[in-house]
Amino acid sequence: MNRKFTTILALCALLILPILVSGCSSEGNLDMNKKIVRISHGQPDGHPDDIAMKEFAKYINENLGDSFEVQVYGNGLLGDSKNALELTQTGAIDYVVCSTSNLEAYSKQYGMFSVPYLFSSKEAYHKFMDGETVKNMYQSTDATGFRAVAWFDAGVRSFYSNKPIEKPEDMRGMKIRVQPSPLNVAMIQALGAGAVPMGFGEVYTALQQGTIDGAENNELALTTVKHGEVAKYYSYDMHQMQPDMLVANIKFLESLTEEQRRVFDEATELAHDVEMEAWAKQTEEAKNIAENEMGVTFVEADVAAFQKACESIQRNYLKNNPDVQIYFDEIKKYNDEFSSVNQ
Ligand code: GCU
Repeated sequence: MNRKFTTILALCALLILPILVSGCSSEGNLDMNKKIVRISHGQPDGHPDDIAMKEFAKYINENLGDSFEVQVYGNGLLGDSKNALELTQTGAIDYVVCSTSNLEAYSKQYGMFSVPYLFSSKEAYHKFMDGETVKNMYQSTDATGFRAVAWFDAGVRSFYSNKPIEKPEDMRGMKIRVQPSPLNVAMIQALGAGAVPMGFGEVYTALQQGTIDGAENNELALTTVKHGEVAKYYSYDMHQMQPDMLVANIKFLESLTEEQRRVFDEATELAHDVEMEAWAKQTEEAKNIAENEMGVTFVEADVAAFQKACESIQRNYLKNNPDVQIYFDEIKKYNDEFSSVNQ
């Protein structure tokens, strides 16, 4: 309730503030020529997404501070990813960091990242994401009013619960939270469990109260949003590598002069680099903290069994979305080249 109330207040503030203080600088001076650029993300302070967007803000405020003031709203303050994406679509805010699972509702192409075991290794995943082909996907939402401008690492997703999950049969009858997307629901069903789509911010309480029996995410979720307090087994089945995307309102991007766009592009690249570095560092730390300070046990799961149970998802997805074949062809190339590890 508190969270919803805060969100409503924040949204009211967003709608009223521009009318009252259009262009009011952080020093409180009224500056009608200054555009306030609002960015939303759903992670707590100090998470790699948060660090990256604060660097982005700093870069713009330092280099284009006469014309822009960038403000970062984390913690889902402007709503969960789904709602914040809608605000970015309408232009109520300018940027959002969200999972590809949220983008699936606007472009089926993004559903590809929810296909389990799409990548054979972290190396294959990074090569594909750093390449040019994936940029076609960025443009696939242009008609809806927004476009991805960068990708952020969000690690490898695995299941966690209060019991160890080593094989798909262990999940039978369990209620597992997923990000709201049809492909994530299909994955849980293929594994014989019940899917409960819900926003990220609700997962801790749902685990604590037993509304759900488990969830799935990267290791950082155990520590940054403290899921390790309410789920004591993290099972390395490693079913997805799903990036977070930095998404911008198209009209905002188009409103920039060539010079301003260049600086925003530099800030975007900087944010990507900063996020990737913070991600690598924090994942290692998170495993340590979860194991040694929170009492989470890390379990090796039978990855091949999970992979087999999910095979039909890729087949069906490809059959229904022939336009993604171009991405699959490229991923296959990287999967063959970097096949050895899955983590
Ligand atoms: C990760 C990801 C978020 C996503 C969340 C979720 O934390 O980085 O973008 O919202 O998972 O499971 O909802």
